[in-house]
Amino acid sequence: MPRALLTFVLLILMSACKKPSSEECGLEKSLYQQANFPLGVAVDPTYFSLPQYDTLVSKQFNSITPENIFKPSYLHPQENSFFWWEADNLVARAQQNKQRIHGHTLIWHKQLPIWMLNYQGTKAQWEAMFKNHIQSICQHFKGKVEAWDVINEAFNEDGTLRNFIWRQHLGDAYIEKAFRYAHEADPQALLFYNDFNLAYNERKRAAVLTFLSKLKQRGLPIDGIGMQMHIAINYPSRGQINSAIQAAGETGLLVHLSEVDISVNPFNKGDLDKEELFNRQADVLATVVLAYKALPSRYQYGISFWGLSDANSWIRDFYQREDYPLLFDDFYQPKACYCKLIDLL
Ligand code: G3I
Repeated sequence: MPRALLTFVLLILMSACKKPSSEECGLEKSLYQQANFPLGVAVDPTYFSLPQYDTLVSKQFNSITPENIFKPSYLHPQENSFFWWEADNLVARAQQNKQRIHGHTLIWHKQLPIWMLNYQGTKAQWEAMFKNHIQSICQHFKGKVEAWDVINEAFNEDGTLRNFIWRQHLGDAYIEKAFRYAHEADPQALLFYNDFNLAYNERKRAAVLTFLSKLKQRGLPIDGIGMQMHIAINYPSRGQINSAIQAAGETGLLVHLSEVDISVNPFNKGDLDKEELFNRQADVLATVVLAYKALPSRYQYGISFWGLSDANSWIRDFYQREDYPLLFDDFYQPKACYCKLIDLL
């Protein structure tokens, strides 16, 4: 048999015997319909004009987190005025799609309006401003927003509390005050603390979980912890991922993997072997999902991805690098990590 014909026959045989790879799949299934816990995605309303974006967000996810438009700089641009229009539109869309809305975020050290950063006043005036901000927003969305990231990223990497305007003017108690004010304004809302690097940085994780457990033991109205999970294919380790998610479950708080993305190019290399990287990305996501599924179901608040497609990811802008951290590619096609996720849910 001529060599070329032999090669052709062998290729046909090999492709016929190829294991059906989970790296390829279609969109016949829906992530949230496969899962026993909510599947969420951070959304930017400017992308809803893209049919693929609109369809995937509504068909694949039953929870949404506004990526930016619920942050203080967007909702509270002037001391005496709030901007609800864009947020209300997103809430209405989510309600039409019967999607949970996870409010992000009431108190942070970033994306604050200038007036807040420059605020001058007595301790009492600072507290009144802080309380008004929190309660105005929680009251506005009462009965519509199911949960809030009340405090976002209050800890430094060394496990100490960030020394930012809130702590400078209200003391360490600003954190519990924020939860009490939010609960007062909307007693039905679930209230979360949200932070990053809780798998990779064991010191920070220990500090955060100890702090939250003490608040919970003292009867503070705190319901959950958001582990952002902005991770990469080479860190944290599988062991760190498993230990972190298990430790969060041991606090008795709801656990939200709140901002999942998995960088495939953390060191900004060129000439990427995308197929190999995407398969590694799928394996890391499998570790995360299996660890999450091992939690008692009563603690499984859900898994939310920080963006829909690689084209929407904050990582490219923030780090100014080529990266493909999310479930769908730049053409809104499912990647290996999506196919792996569908298999595992
Ligand atoms: O809206 C303006 C636009 O008018 C302007 O033309 C444009 C160019 O300067 O900037 C736009 O604002 C950007 C905003 O995203 C909306 O796209 C800001 O510059 C940019 O800094 C902002 O980045 C956001 C970042 O938080 C801010 O720290 C990202 O989209 C968002 O994904 C990211 O999300 C955070 C979470 O809230 C908390 N956890 C970490 C996560 C990643 O940093």
